[in-house]
Amino acid sequence: MTGPKRVLVVYYSLTGQMERVLDALVPRLEEAGHQVDRRKVVPVHEWTLPFDPVRFYVYWARTWAGKTLTQPLEPMDFQGIEPDCVLLGFQPWYLAPSIPVNSFLHGEHSAIFRDRPVIAVMTCRNRWERALRIARDRIDEAGGRLIDALVVQDQVPEPANMATTYYRLMENRVPPPGHWIARFQPFGIGDPAVDVVRDWGRDLAVRLTEDRLGDRLGWRIVNGRLKLV
Ligand SMILES: Cc1cc2nc3c(=O)[nH]c(=O)nc-3n(C[C@H](O)[C@H](O)[C@H](O)COP(=O)(O)O)c2cc1C
Repeated sequence: MTGPKRVLVVYYSLTGQMERVLDALVPRLEEAGHQVDRRKVVPVHEWTLPFDPVRFYVYWARTWAGKTLTQPLEPMDFQGIEPDCVLLGFQPWYLAPSIPVNSFLHGEHSAIFRDRPVIAVMTCRNRWERALRIARDRIDEAGGRLIDALVVQDQVPEPANMATTYYRLMENRVPPPGHWIARFQPFGIGDPAVDVVRDWGRDLAVRLTEDRLGDRLGWRIVNGRLKLV
């Protein structure tokens, strides 16, 4: 049915990139009349910055050993919420969905996907394909359907973004002038990408209103080339 819709946004953000994307996106839906419920996934033991390097490499090794990493989450109350569509905002950690979002995907709350269209919104360095596939499969197993994805990569391309990301995680500050990392554009998705997100949000608002969510030409990749997943 055409008209305003109810949208549930479930997301996680550690360094603030997904918050930036949602701050640009959610108002575009609301100004078109859609009702948006924005919920952050909160781990019982929250991740903090700077990132503990031992923890970083331990989880890296466990992921590469094939483990599915999850952690306890604070309860989320979805009672009485009947969204027309779910928007999942997440980021890859070690080529899989970040541990908080992976926990959501593998936990009881994933029942909210049942019989609903799901749109993935990702921020990342540039290695997102495997994480999106894992999320898609989990949404599928929960009875939902991933119908669209917006992937916003860092403004700095690989391999430099490995250094800018690692510096941000381990130092949690802007590199001082003269530091070799300061030669690159700053860590993160960058202002031009936020403009693209705003446009994408306006288009999504129209598709929601006109019941054309399924109309798309492929995943939208910002700051990078389209790759097959
Ligand atoms: C532990 C950890 C592992 C990461 N692994 C990946 C990865 O596999 N692929 C990638 O593209 N980015 C990876 N990143 C970078 C983040 O996904 C990226 O910076 C994202 O935009 C952060 O989103 P947020 O600021 O909302 O938390 C990793 C970040 C962390 C903290």
